[in-house]
Amino acid sequence: MILECVDLDFNGKGVCKKEGFVYFIDNMLKGEIAEVKITKTNKSYGFGEVIKFKQRSPYRKNNFPLSYASLYHLDNQVQLDYQMGLTKETFKKISNLEIKVEEIITDNKPVYYRNKITLHVKKIGNKLKLGSFENKSHQLEVLDSHLLADEVINKGIEQLNKLFDKYALIDESLKKITLRSNKKDLMIIFTTTTEKWYEKELILSEIKAYSMYQNISEIESENLGGVSILLKGEAYLPLELLGLKFRLYPTGFFQTNYSVTELLYKRVLEEIKPITYLDAYAGAAIIGQIISKKAKQVFSVDINQDSINSANESIKLNNLKNVEAILGNVDDKINQLEVEGIIFDPPRSGLSKEIIDTIISKTFEQIIYISCNLRTLSRDLNLLLTKYKIRNIIPVKMFYQTTETETIVVLDKM
Ligand SMILES: C[S@@+](CC[C@H](N)C(=O)[O-])C[C@H]1O[C@@H](n2cnc3c(N)ncnc32)[C@H](O)[C@@H]1O
Repeated sequence: MILECVDLDFNGKGVCKKEGFVYFIDNMLKGEIAEVKITKTNKSYGFGEVIKFKQRSPYRKNNFPLSYASLYHLDNQVQLDYQMGLTKETFKKISNLEIKVEEIITDNKPVYYRNKITLHVKKIGNKLKLGSFENKSHQLEVLDSHLLADEVINKGIEQLNKLFDKYALIDESLKKITLRSNKKDLMIIFTTTTEKWYEKELILSEIKAYSMYQNISEIESENLGGVSILLKGEAYLPLELLGLKFRLYPTGFFQTNYSVTELLYKRVLEEIKPITYLDAYAGAAIIGQIISKKAKQVFSVDINQDSINSANESIKLNNLKNVEAILGNVDDKINQLEVEGIIFDPPRSGLSKEIIDTIISKTFEQIIYISCNLRTLSRDLNLLLTKYKIRNIIPVKMFYQTTETETIVVLDKM
């Protein structure tokens, strides 16, 4: 069947329409016409792949996307337009009001920006191989380097690949390897399914890194969920951001693009008032510490013990008197702490019903919502707009070559 692509969806698939059907086609860009093979259909929509292009987009920069970079085939500037389009569309759906979306925040660095990646390990023949899984399958795409990871991480990948090429390693407990960097030093976390790990000594003697951990996660699909054991080197990666000192531990959350993160935090800081804030879903209280320059008092709440330990260490290092890191669930703490403003930076699932109810029943002077998921952001805002009004919408391009979005929304009480 011949189809013309009219749009790109949330996952970067081409959207085509024909005879009342909507088709989502892999590797097809807006404006492209192709002969397509339909691989699956439902009542009113289907999925497919390109057999042969009849017309290509002038904005196509590569023949194919990558397993870990679903917009790798799309021009970098058009990737910004794509995110802007998704953002505007989302806000149009939730509010009839014409709300201006600010210019997208970006550092214009489209590759080698990630400070953390997790790769899978699989035995192929008699050698261990490192790579990423293709399209959520268990098919390993072997990687010599990673286009999105920074230079420190790529040097780590090179070391690991050399080692795996040199020896016929027999270990099958090693499932994943996570590499983290502070732009200078490397931390490697080996995720195994069992504590005993046959090739451990050999790997530790040959690989050079600032810090090396083992994380034991019996459930194979889980990453960094189990116990972390320091194997060699330092316990954390030191990090400086906007003049403050932080410590990166193996399982602690940290935004994966340092330079755009700095721009994001700076933009949030511009909005901060001299009031008390809850820094909800705080990680290592990085936002909390940054905004403490302007806020009266900040309570940073996170459910992860490693993150709170790290937060406490850096609050002390930075000698901040008006930030307190609290271990706990935001669902509970939001009712226990008396604050005038809140910064939410939740996981992809967004805010719970209980939290939304609290925000509506109490009145907060300002809410800043940082979201990595436009769908849950729009679901949550829909409920909040009875009591709060949107002042600013600021898209942030954190992850070039991918469909991931980051958005800051500033809300004031009505
Ligand atoms: C997107 S990260 C935000 C981290 C931080 N704001 C930053 O900029 O580095 C989400 C954080 O939410 C935490 N988290 C998830 N569910 C939570 C909950 N119910 N209560 C408190 N923290 C939670 C996770 O541990 C994680 O650190």
